[in-house]
Amino acid sequence: MNGNLRALKPYPMAELQARKSALIGRGMRVYDFGTGDPIEPTPAFIVEAARQAIPRVSQYPSVAGTPTLRRAATDYLRRRFAVTVDADTQVLPSAGSKEAIFHLPLAFLDPASGRDTVVYGTPGYPVYQHGTLFAHGREHPVVLERERGYRLDLGRLPSEVLRRTAIAWLNYPHNPTGACVDRAYLRDQAAIAAGNGILLASDECYQDLWFADAAEPPPSMLEVATTGVLAFHSCSKRSGMTGYRSGFIAGDPALIKAYRGWRAAMGVGSQAFVESAAAAAWSDDAHAQDRRAVFADKYRVLVDGLRALGIDALPSSAGLYIWAQVPGGGDADAYAARCLEAGIVVSPGGFFGAGADGWFRLALVPSLDDCRAALAIWPRTGVGGRGSGVG
Ligand SMILES: Cc1ncc(COP(=O)(O)O)c(C=O)c1O
Repeated sequence: MNGNLRALKPYPMAELQARKSALIGRGMRVYDFGTGDPIEPTPAFIVEAARQAIPRVSQYPSVAGTPTLRRAATDYLRRRFAVTVDADTQVLPSAGSKEAIFHLPLAFLDPASGRDTVVYGTPGYPVYQHGTLFAHGREHPVVLERERGYRLDLGRLPSEVLRRTAIAWLNYPHNPTGACVDRAYLRDQAAIAAGNGILLASDECYQDLWFADAAEPPPSMLEVATTGVLAFHSCSKRSGMTGYRSGFIAGDPALIKAYRGWRAAMGVGSQAFVESAAAAAWSDDAHAQDRRAVFADKYRVLVDGLRALGIDALPSSAGLYIWAQVPGGGDADAYAARCLEAGIVVSPGGFFGAGADGWFRLALVPSLDDCRAALAIWPRTGVGGRGSGVG
């Protein structure tokens, strides 16, 4: 067995699923705010596009993807971010962002060269770390602080870390905290990455899920730089397609060329009929608007409801999550277990790495009615913290 496999903790969301199934097996009503896997149906025109494209003769897909999908992706980038990239040289489809994120260090880390480090923020999406370890890279997690708006600032890293860094990951709107950033921040980070020869990877899978009162839709890294930069987009949350597995990577043509060449060895080309559905999804903005309105409604009900219970839920203007503090202080794992006993699945902060003690995450998944029903039974106190009566 790969020793790095042995060193890893179980994937947190798999653990949540197991706990949830056990509760359902006991006949309990469960409100699942755990995994960020929305329940709203995939829009009918997307399903139909997939159905129409299932071929009579099925042949291997190409890693470069269909020209139709690449064109739909570039048209989307132009409409949404006013960014112009070339459909043939600057876009590459992925079988969902997760695999593309995981595989990136396998393609772009060369530990023997001294450029062996991957920088990422924590708490954060665990796959930045997993991909690094499997590629035998050196991880450099940076604890993101509330006082700094959970922003990862490459400019604060020691110069010896910058010198060793091959890849730096950014992810705004941020999973799990819901933090957002502006173009000035992205511009600064792009300049620091460029000055240090670092591949700047921007995970942008929540870019289209802004809440109604957001001052401005979340920007893309591609608005401020394409050289040395890759942006990772996904159909999953924007279009209700988590099960389809489709996304794209866009940015620096030299990096895209290298990644495409390497991915051909991997068998990660996605099915042409999935790519047809994805092309339909990227070509339409109305459904994305409808979906973000649904998430915005859930966000409002939950944040207001939690605050009314005395729970400190951080303000956010985009994404799919609420980041909240365990009421009264205390351990997030124990609090998540207490929630589970009530039939409410939340993710304790520790699922997302260091720097998240005493916090938990809610994914905006259950229906509005279920959000309200869950709030009615929500545990108001942590375990072992102030006001819990335990310690
Ligand atoms: C920050 C972040 N990046 C990437 C992904 C993966 O998305 P996909 O479904 O495109 O693989 C997720 C999924 O939850 C995520 O939270």
